[in-house]
Order: sequence, then C-alpha cells, then structure tokens
Amino acid sequence: MDKLMIDGGHPLEGTVQISGAKNSAVALIPAAILADSPVTIDNLPKISDVELLAELLKEIGGEVQIGEQEMTIDPTSMYAMPLPNGRVKKLRASYYLMGAMLGKFKKAVIGLPGGCNLGPRPIDQHIKGFEALGARVTNEQGAIYLRADELQGARIYLDVVSVGATINIMLAAVRAKGQTVIENAAKEPEIIDVATLLSSMGARIKGAGTNVIRIDGVDTLKGCRHSIIPDRIEAGTYMILAAAMGQNVLIDNIIPYHVESLIAKLREMGVDVETYDDQVRIRNHREKKGVDIKTLVYPGFPTDLQQPITTLLTQAHGTSIVTDTIYNARFKHIDELRRMGANIKVEGRSAIINGKTALQGAKVRASDLRAGAALVIAGLLAEGITEVSGLEHIDRGYENLENKLLGLGAKIWREKMSEEEVEQVKSS
Ligand code: EPU
Repeated sequence: MDKLMIDGGHPLEGTVQISGAKNSAVALIPAAILADSPVTIDNLPKISDVELLAELLKEIGGEVQIGEQEMTIDPTSMYAMPLPNGRVKKLRASYYLMGAMLGKFKKAVIGLPGGCNLGPRPIDQHIKGFEALGARVTNEQGAIYLRADELQGARIYLDVVSVGATINIMLAAVRAKGQTVIENAAKEPEIIDVATLLSSMGARIKGAGTNVIRIDGVDTLKGCRHSIIPDRIEAGTYMILAAAMGQNVLIDNIIPYHVESLIAKLREMGVDVETYDDQVRIRNHREKKGVDIKTLVYPGFPTDLQQPITTLLTQAHGTSIVTDTIYNARFKHIDELRRMGANIKVEGRSAIINGKTALQGAKVRASDLRAGAALVIAGLLAEGITEVSGLEHIDRGYENLENKLLGLGAKIWREKMSEEEVEQVKSS
C-alpha cells in the first residue's frame, strides 16, 4: 500500500492537461456490450475504474485491447455470464452492466455495486426503469437478477434526477421494441457523451442533455469509434487547486461551459478566471472571500467538487456554508481537514467553514475519491509534510495525479506505507 507525501506551501505554475471523463468512460465501456462488432473508445483516462471494467468485460467473453489512450472492445463472443461477486462489487459503475447486458442478452446477474461510500446510494430508479421495459428484477443474496422475454419501450418518469438511472435505462432501451421516453432525466454532459456513442453505433436517441429523452429501439447496433469528453470534475479539481496555490495555471483540454457553475463561484470568491475555447487560466493573486454553495444536479454546482472546494474555502475570509443536496453524508473529509487546522463544523447537510485558517501538514486518510482530492489540495496549502493514505480511492478517478502536480511545481511523491501503518489502516 502506498501513501502520497506532499511538502506544502509551494506555489504552482504551468499547464495541466485534463484527461477523458471518468464518469463517461465507466458508462461507455459497458455500452460497447450492446454492439455486434468492435467499439474503440479514445481519450480514455488511465484510472483503476477503467481497468476493472475492462477485466469485467473479459470475464463475460469480451476481447479487450488497451492502447496508450484508447480501448478496443470486441463484443462478438460475449455472453450473459453471471457476475454476482468479485470485481463487480468494487465499483459503483458496474451497475451499467445491468442495463447493457439486459439490452443485449435480455438477462443479467450482477452483484450490487460498490464505489465511494457517500451515504445511502439506492438504485431503485434504475430498477423501476428496467421493470417498466418489461424485465423481472429480483434481489437474490446481494445480486440483482434481471430477465425479460423481450424489452418493450415505455414511458418512465424518474422520481429522483439520477445520472446512473438515466444512462442505465438508455442502455437497456436502445435495443427494446418501440419507443422509450425518460422524463425528469438527468442532463449531465456524460449523458450526452453516452448518447453520442450509442447514436454512432446506430441507436436512435433524441433529447440527451434535456430532461426528456426519447429512444426508438433498433434491432442491432454496430461498432464505432468514439472520443470521450474531457473530465469536468478533474478539470474543476485542478481549477480549485490552482485557485488555492497557483500563481498562473492553465488548465488545458476542457470544455469551459461544463464548469460554469464553478467559474461563477471562483469569481465570486475573488479568483481571477480567464476562459478560452478549450482552456481556463487561473491566477491567484488576491485575498479570497467566503461564499455559500449548494450542490445541485447539472448545470448546478456539482457534488463531486463540493469536497475539493471546501478545502479552498478554508483560505477565504469570513464564513462559507456548503450544502450538499445530492449526498447527505459526503463529509468524511471534514474531520481530516480539521486535523490539519481547518475551522469547519457539519450541521445536517451543510459544512460551515470559518476562514481564513492556516493549515498544517498531518497524516490524513482519504475515505473516498473526492475526499482524496480535497486532502491533496489541503496538503499543497499546508505548512510542512502531509501524508495522504487511501490512495486506492484517488487512483480510481484521477489519472497520473502526482505527475500532473509535479509538472506544476508541486513537491509530491509516493511512498510505501510501513507494515505498522498498513495495520492501522486495516483496523480503522
Ligand atoms: N438516487 C436514488 N435512487 C436511484 C438513483 C439515485 O435515490 O435509483 C439518488 C442518490 O442517492 C443521490 C441522487 O439520487 O442522492 C443522485 O444520484 P445519481 O444516480 O445521479 O448518482 P450516480 O449516478 O450513482 C453519478 C456519478 C457520481 C456523482 C453523481 C451525481 C458515476 C459513476 N458516478 O453517480 O460521481 O456524484 O452521479 O452527479 O457517474 C464521483 O465521480 O466522485 C462520483 C461519486
């Protein structure tokens, strides 16, 4: 097991390249199951969630070739192999295997998904959608069994706006008979990305990116080539850390429109943000002021940037209130930030941050992916050395984090944890 060591307090400068979007990649890879010939996915981030999904596709008979930045998936020999345990439990996005395998084979057995522990993360809306399409869905000893004689298009109203349910229902519906209408659909850019791939495969989808998506089922889907959109959450994380420690940082290969809610908040705080076609420049030369933030579904402020921006707000003057309306328990980073000197308290769904406070290096543990990002930013800000454990979470979603930060002038490196430290982590 490794830990990240960060010698904080060094200003950052330079250009950072943003990778392809994790939350697109983890849906696009299962979507390839639906094709009848090879699919190539380009601009693929090198992260452990992508590796896990590639292994899962191999388990069901897929041929997967991974290149420098791309993956080719040949689904021709895939079959509906049950996946009740093992890797499938290690990542949240394994739930997309349900929609894709149901769409292709009309049956699937998939273990309940794992992923970051952010409090309750039900999948009732996914299941409601599959059932509306004609599938029988049962939960047998922690695995979801899906079976259908045939899938029939339906009108599905989501009671909760859900990225996962919207994509999963799209995956199941593209090869159903007749028309499916998803109402109160999520509008995240990753949904448009998945719809773009499916359309290139021959699917007929209208309205992705709005709250009503119409899908006319087709009998077959063919392979294609698709390039993943830039990762708006990775981009946002670098924008926040540039606002924390950057003198002049250019974030390259991004769609500024996808991070507008963050740009607005950074500007409100007094951070200098310049936008170009596919780049954003952050200059951090003024004192920052506290702001209130409420996470919302897209295009609102993303819950995935709530934890990183909380760290930045410890450096702003005054009181800031950050409310997470999507996940009510996404606050596991707060205790760790407090150990580094932050003045934050959690009340219900809100973190109340009083700044500005100096942060000191400490031994901290990332409990989930974005908590990890929040602690890395804290380490870059802190005086002295910060040791971040729980890197398995960070590696799930940030490609090459240390090298990207080294390129900006950060003092950061990976070290093996001692046996004693590994024991401590296991018993905590
Ligand atoms: N929800 C339900 N029932 C459902 C599905 C969702 O009640 O059937 C609730 C959830 O509990 C949550 C809200 O609806 O309160 C939104 O959840 P959503 O389904 O949109 O989340 P998700 O699809 O499971 C994706 C991202 C998350 C991101 C959320 C919200 C992937 C693989 N994950 O999760 O990303 O936080 O959307 O934008 O796309 C991350 O990248 O760190 C991450 C956790």
